[in-house]
Amino acid sequence: RRPLYLDCDTGIDDSLALAYLLAAPGADLVGVGTVSGNVAAALGAANTLDLLALAGRDDIPVAVGEHDFQAREFDGGAPHVHGANGVGGVELPRTTTAPVAESAPELLVRLARENAGDLRVVAIGPLTNLAAALRLEPRLPELVAEVTIMGGAALVPGNISPVAEANIGNDPEAAREVLAAPWSITLVPLDVTMEHLLEESHRQELLASERPLSRALGEMLGYYYRFYEGVFGRPCSAMHDPLAAAIAVGAVGLRTAPVVHVEVDATQGPGRGQTICDLRGRHLGYPEQPGAHCRVVLELAEDFAPHLVDAIEGRLSA
Ligand code: BDR
Ligand code: CA
Repeated sequence: RRPLYLDCDTGIDDSLALAYLLAAPGADLVGVGTVSGNVAAALGAANTLDLLALAGRDDIPVAVGEHDFQAREFDGGAPHVHGANGVGGVELPRTTTAPVAESAPELLVRLARENAGDLRVVAIGPLTNLAAALRLEPRLPELVAEVTIMGGAALVPGNISPVAEANIGNDPEAAREVLAAPWSITLVPLDVTMEHLLEESHRQELLASERPLSRALGEMLGYYYRFYEGVFGRPCSAMHDPLAAAIAVGAVGLRTAPVVHVEVDATQGPGRGQTICDLRGRHLGYPEQPGAHCRVVLELAEDFAPHLVDAIEGRLSA
């Protein structure tokens, strides 16, 4: 079990990722930071603390991170996708546990120093906190073992613009810095997260659970499914964030995941927020690209939904 820091914007699929990481045999969640994205950073932290309390894990420190993006102010997030409260209107029991006094970038830097060479970072919101942490501690890429990011769209359309995915497109300047830093990155883009869906049968399984956290997730998914019905034509959802979490702990087999150069478009034109991945070697089996340090997950080797539900339901053994 290796130490893991989660940076998130909780968020319905962020809630699934959190529940997954609490249950995954390979993960030791040592801290959570929040960033504005689906909701404001402070509300994301409150949601995260409530979820942790529901799971009996309010020992895990939660830090509030950046409220505004590098080039613009936070503008209210994605209530049409995640609900005004970020968790699909579900009223979670409110915990009295407060966020820690450190900011999320400070928490990340401290955990990286304390677990030098060992800390895994999973980022499932805009990359504003990670960029701020790089400025606080320029040696961060040496201290962190690896970074897994849910974000981007390599060969498929974006979701907040024709080319930009939300986590990258909300703060392209931050994403550009984070992807250029010399750490080992795994990018989990829409190419793969839109191909693995959670269906109504999975939601019913969670709703029927004896675990309060599972039931809350099942309720939230009702809201999320209504948004995705407009995308897929039936009540179901993509599993963006939990898939990134599972890939970070090495729990999912990958079929196509080349290590290639990736750049983020941070210009003001129609390409803003695009992740430009150099996939030109695809007909040759992706020959090595010297200096590339970003693995782009394009295809899984297995189904993900059953694994996710088993994990959340505590059915995975160590
Ligand atoms: C990403 O954006 C957020 O809405 C989700 O939580 C996920 O991290 C998908 O584009
Ligand atoms: Ca998210």
